[in-house]
Formats: sequence, structure tokens, C-alpha cells
Amino acid sequence: MNGVTPSIDSAQARELLEGLGEEARRFRFEVAPNPCVGAAVLSGGQVIGRGFHRVWGGPHAEVEAIAQADGSGVPRERWDTLVVTLEPCSSTGKTGPCVQAILDAGIPYVVVGATDPDPRHRGEGLEQLRAAGVEVMVDPVPAPLERVAPHFLRWSDRDRIRRPRPWTVAKWAQTLTGQLSPPKDVGDGRWISCGASLEEVQLLRGRVDAIVTGVGTILADDPRLTLRRSPSPMAVDGLQTLPLGDVAGKPGATVAPARVILDSWLRTPPEARIFAAPEGGERGGAVHVVTLPGADPIRRRALEAAGARIHSVRGAKRQSLDLRSAWAWLWDQGFRRVMLESGPTLLGNALEAGFVDQLRVYTGSVRGGEGESLAGWLVEAPLEERLHRESGSDAVLEAFHG
Ligand SMILES: NC(=O)c1ccc[n+]([C@@H]2O[C@H](COP(=O)([O-])OP(=O)(O)OC[C@H]3O[C@@H](n4cnc5c(N)ncnc54)[C@H](OP(=O)(O)O)[C@@H]3O)[C@@H](O)[C@H]2O)c1
Repeated sequence: MNGVTPSIDSAQARELLEGLGEEARRFRFEVAPNPCVGAAVLSGGQVIGRGFHRVWGGPHAEVEAIAQADGSGVPRERWDTLVVTLEPCSSTGKTGPCVQAILDAGIPYVVVGATDPDPRHRGEGLEQLRAAGVEVMVDPVPAPLERVAPHFLRWSDRDRIRRPRPWTVAKWAQTLTGQLSPPKDVGDGRWISCGASLEEVQLLRGRVDAIVTGVGTILADDPRLTLRRSPSPMAVDGLQTLPLGDVAGKPGATVAPARVILDSWLRTPPEARIFAAPEGGERGGAVHVVTLPGADPIRRRALEAAGARIHSVRGAKRQSLDLRSAWAWLWDQGFRRVMLESGPTLLGNALEAGFVDQLRVYTGSVRGGEGESLAGWLVEAPLEERLHRESGSDAVLEAFHG
């Protein structure tokens, strides 16, 4: 005990926790697989700073709340309580530990809504705070985490920890009838979504470690898979609003995501645009080509000369590359959040294998189309937390894949 009296009672803390939890949920698709977290700094019973974890890799809620409290003009000596929906982190991930930020702010009383569900970290943050003399109260009501961030419970479950694979966001554009390619005479036989959606995808690309595609897409579309522009902040509810390059609060901090091509037989042409040098303002990550063992040495050398890094994973019976091995390889590269931007062949197999955790589907106002439709699948799919919104003239569906 440090003799400090919190400036709110437990009923007020509970009410605040519930409000923060609800608001934090707005960012669920932006922060996953991290949990949604909200925090508030109080002085004399008044909230003087609120913060949310808004984007994967971005500042945590506590840090944002402390920064806002700093801006309130109330001196730090008068800050008495921090209320946070989830146990503050004690280890350094994409950002520094929140426990340290709380200690640096000198806040003497911390109310926590739920302990960390990850067994590797549970209780550590609380212990460190207590050891430093901070009084900590954990809300005795069962953790709201199941409601606020069920995806995080899956991410930190025993099986996933034992056999880790990156959090995978499948993004695709489809026509009104659910096809991934428009009719040949529309949008160069390639474009389905509107300009606003293309901008959103640029933002999303800036928030993953890698973009994964199949060789079919390389052959058909010859995409660059780069970060091309720095879109201005967008006023889309629940969609993270920091401009590209501002992810960690440091302008220009975004590292361009690696580009990964699944290509069993090295059919990727060495002259593909993905290997071309970045053009004005464009950023592109390393190009990795994942292939079967014993790849043709001549093709291999030509691709390496073009700048590709070649890796092999084992094959599967019915498919080209074994997806479990490919996803394990992605994890071993240090990729924790990846985006699948492929055609229907790889997408379908990844969905079937259960390797897609989250979806973002843009339905453009294009009639008809080429290839198999995913419309029926979407109706039947085990999707959770569905969110329907608009992006320009497109309809957007976001959901977690159960
Ligand atoms: N609307 C959209 O969002 C979108 C996005 C991308 C592409 N597209 C369209 O999709 C079309 C291309 O479709 P696609 O299906 O051929 O492209 P894809 O899914 O990107 O690539 C498929 C290829 O990936 C390789 N692959 C390696 N391992 C695999 C595995 N385990 N499972 C599945 N594939 C594996 C296979 O070739 P190997 O056996 O030779 O390795 C396979 O043929 C184009 O018309 C393009 O415009 C649409």
C-alpha cells in the first residue's frame, strides 16, 4: 500500500471500464491479433486523458492516454489513477512496455479490467507495478475480453502458441456476383474496386509484415505489391486514421512489407514488375519466392539475379506447396501479421486450411466476372464480428474467420 486513495470507487471504475471496452472494440480489425484496449488517466475523479490501441504496431492505449493527460495541463503530481481494460504489457514488442510508461508517469493507483490471457505474460505486468509500489486493483467481475477481443483469445490459445503461424488478413475485391476477376472488358480485366478502396488497401499494406500472393496473380496481373502513396487521414468510423508512415508515432517509420510469392515450379518471370526498382515515393519490401525443394537451377539463378530470395518448403498431396509448412516458414521469418492478396486458388486453399484469421472484402459495382464466385461461401462462412461499411462506391465486409 502506498497510502494513495483512488479518486473513483469500484462502481465508477466498472462503468469507465465498460465504456472504454466498448469504444476500444471499434479498432478490433485494425489491431488484431492484438486485443482491443482502452485506458483513461484520472485526476481528482476527472478523466484527463483517454487512449485506445488503434492500430497494430501503434502506441498502446496507456501510452496514448498518458500523452493526452500530458496535454490536459494537469501536472503529473495530480494524476492519481489509471484505468485500463487489460493488464499493461511488461515486455517490449512493437512498442515499449506500458508498465514502464505508467511508472514514468508516476501514477500511484491502477485499475485493471482483465489479466493478460496469454499464459506466458499473465500477471507479470501487475507484479512489476506492485513491486514498484503501485497499488493495483483487478476488477473482480469476469474479464470482458471474451466479448471485447475473442480473436485475441484464439491468438494466445495453447495450440496456436505450440504451432505458431502469422495472423492472416485475407483481402480481396469481388464483383457483385462474388467473382475475383471482372469481365475482360471491364477495368482492364483486373480492377474491381474504387479509388477510395485502393487507398485503404495501401494503408493496410503498411500495417502488415508481409503480403502473400500466388504465382497465378503474378502471371495474370503482374502486380508490384508496394506502398505507393501516403494517403491522408481518413474519417472512416473504426478504421484507423493515422496516415501511412506515422504508424509508430514516428513519421516515415513504416517498413515496407515483404512480398512473398508461393510458386511451386518457379513460374514467376524474372522480368515481372515486382522486381523493378521503386518509383517516385514508392516503397517495396524484399521479394521472397517460396518453392518446392529441388527447384530448377536455371530458373532459380535467373530469379535470384532479378533480386528474389528463394526458399523451399515441402509439397502437399493435393496442392502445390504445403500451406502449413509455408505458413510456418512465414512465422520463422518473423512475420506476425500478413495479408493474403491472391487469386481464388490460393485464397480458397488458405480458407479451407483454416489459415485465414480475418477478412476484408470489397464488393465493387461490377456485374458478372470471371472465375468461381465466393458469394455462396461468404453466406455460409463461420464469420464473427461482421462489420459492413462503405468505401467510396464499394461495400466492405470485415470479419474474423472463426
Ligand atoms: N480480386 C482480387 O482481390 C484478386 C486478387 C489477386 C488476384 N486476382 C485475380 O485472380 C486471378 C489469378 O487467380 P489464381 O487463382 O491463378 O491466382 P493465385 O491464387 O494468386 O495463385 C495460384 C497459384 O499459386 C500457386 N500455389 C502454390 N502453392 C499453393 C497452394 N498450396 N494452394 C494454392 N495455390 C498454390 C499455384 O501455382 P503453382 O502450382 O505453379 O505453384 C497456384 O496455381 C487473376 O485473374 C487475378 O486478376 C484477384
